[in-house]
Amino acid sequence: MELKRVESPEQIAAVAALARETWTEHYVPIIGPAQVAYMLDKFQSPEAIARQIAAEGYEYYLARDAGYLALVPDPAKKSLFLSKIYVRAERRGTGLGREMAAFAEARCAALGGGELWLTVNRNNAGSIAFYERRGFRKTGTLVTDIGGGFVMDDWRMAKNVEPADGPRQ
Ligand SMILES: CC(C)(COP(=O)(O)OP(=O)(O)OC[C@H]1O[C@@H](n2cnc3c(N)ncnc32)[C@H](O)[C@@H]1OP(=O)(O)O)[C@@H](O)C(=O)NCCC(=O)NCCS
Repeated sequence: MELKRVESPEQIAAVAALARETWTEHYVPIIGPAQVAYMLDKFQSPEAIARQIAAEGYEYYLARDAGYLALVPDPAKKSLFLSKIYVRAERRGTGLGREMAAFAEARCAALGGGELWLTVNRNNAGSIAFYERRGFRKTGTLVTDIGGGFVMDDWRMAKNVEPADGPRQ
């Protein structure tokens, strides 16, 4: 499925709506409704997404109404942060997550390769299994205070990606 780079206010609104749906369905059983509402407001409102794109180096990609992906390249560190990868519940298990992960890897390779990394809630077992299947390995734990009395209790996971033009000398 084609991934479109998110630029317009309409696309940003579509990402925010997908985030609200997928985060509520997936994270309420893991972190509870209060933290989900707080995190959606702080990180996935249309205003927050627009700010991330305009000022914080985020690249958002939309797979029509089926899912979305967010990447944050850091050329100085030769790394790419896979910040968001979400597929709507009824579209899971059909290969879209695999396609989006491959897209992130190709983007990392095109930018010169290096470390492709992410964070995932330690109780998000299905997604941890998905990442391990894609060659990511746990590199540590991360507990992040996000304000409002909430913390994110995550695994950091990473895989090394070769540059698109072959291994570095
Ligand atoms: C994780 C997620 C993005 C995967 O997307 P998907 O479209 O369901 O995954 P795919 O159909 O492309 O499956 C890709 C592979 O991962 C495996 N996989 C996917 N979900 C899995 C699960 N819950 N447990 C174990 N393996 C899983 C599949 O078996 C498949 O293996 P294969 O490559 O050997 O065939 C999606 O399930 C999702 O949005 N989950 C909820 C939100 C979430 O937790 N996102 C990550 C936040 S850190």
